[in-house]
Amino acid sequence: MAEWIIETARLGLRRLRPDDLAQIRRMPWLDAERVLHRSLEEYERVGHGFLAVILRTSREFVGVCGLLDQEIEGRREAEVGYHLIEAFHGQGIATEAARGVMDYAAEAMGLRRIVSFIEHHNDRSARVAAKNGLVYERDELFRDILVRVFVADPSVGRGGGATASMESLAVDGIGGTPRA
Ligand SMILES: CC(C)(COP(=O)(O)OP(=O)(O)OC[C@H]1O[C@@H](n2cnc3c(N)ncnc32)[C@H](O)[C@@H]1OP(=O)(O)O)[C@@H](O)C(=O)NCCC(=O)NCCS
Repeated sequence: MAEWIIETARLGLRRLRPDDLAQIRRMPWLDAERVLHRSLEEYERVGHGFLAVILRTSREFVGVCGLLDQEIEGRREAEVGYHLIEAFHGQGIATEAARGVMDYAAEAMGLRRIVSFIEHHNDRSARVAAKNGLVYERDELFRDILVRVFVADPSVGRGGGATASMESLAVDGIGGTPRA
């Protein structure tokens, strides 16, 4: 099995493991146990979820980024999500990781629509989305919070720097198809 599911210029993304819990806890705004358990469950159910983001040169764990299977207003959407340990903010890492995930979504999964749900105060995250070509679509309530929904076709303006292995193709119906 390849070491990375997604590889970019500086980063390697691999599945989370139970021994990553201490690193996930370094992002105190997250419920680390929930992130880990939901990811492990999603790998089994839909073949993807949050991945560990590793700096390839130093092998440091810097955060999580991945494609999340979300439901909003009765629609299933593939959301690109990202969270980094604070010491690694401001180096373009989230933008690079998210671009890698978008390239993977386009190439390995054939998705033509991805979203990001971004709270109104989170201008840094909105900037990451904009840098990767996502555009504002609408406001929506997501888990009782009003969010801005940003969307993109990940096959447009691909980064080209990411390579994706083909090992997790167990996708069923994700990507904006209305639920029956
Ligand atoms: C959002 C987050 C992932 C961004 O990570 P990052 O690696 O620092 O992001 P990048 O360096 O790739 O890009 C950040 C951009 O936001 C800009 N920025 C930073 N602070 C900002 C602010 N207060 N307002 C607006 N833009 C801001 C940066 O200048 C940069 O844009 P630029 O390249 O044009 O200069 C990181 O801050 C984080 O983990 N935050 C907490 C978790 C979170 O909010 N996740 C997203 C949930 S939707």
